[in-house]
Amino acid sequence: MRADWTPTTSRRGVLLGAAAVGGLSLAGCGGSTTQNHPDSNSNQGGPEHGPRTRAPGEGGAGVVAQTTDIPVGGGKVFADQGVVVTQPTANDFKGFSARCTHAGCTVSKVENGVIVCPCHGSRFSATDGSVKQGPATQPLKPTNITVDAGQIRLLA
Ligand code: FES
Repeated sequence: MRADWTPTTSRRGVLLGAAAVGGLSLAGCGGSTTQNHPDSNSNQGGPEHGPRTRAPGEGGAGVVAQTTDIPVGGGKVFADQGVVVTQPTANDFKGFSARCTHAGCTVSKVENGVIVCPCHGSRFSATDGSVKQGPATQPLKPTNITVDAGQIRLLA
């Protein structure tokens, strides 16, 4: 067998192609120092993402997650839909805007009962969205969700 593949040219092409195709995703998945601009919709997150409704802000109807995706006492950020879904206690689901009220970054995670913004360290209660730690001074905006047959949907 003959290898026609030219490492120099092909490798460059592959790298450029990967950057072009995955540029936004890579920027959003970088983690610690990425400044999530509110309009970027760049945080693709993990495999738990629901359908890509591409709703700007927190509008749009559609299934965000299965109830089993949301841990009791925790929650998940669905950056594409601009929403954080939490389950403070069993079968009590809450929805909040994922847009931090400080400067508009997308919050990144829910841990230890708080929703964390990676930009300047604000933390919000996973139960009611209230500010637990600044610099944010306003709570996360509630988002209307419904839970039906194990599916969590966003209401417009
Ligand atoms: Fe969230 Fe500044 S934008 S803490």
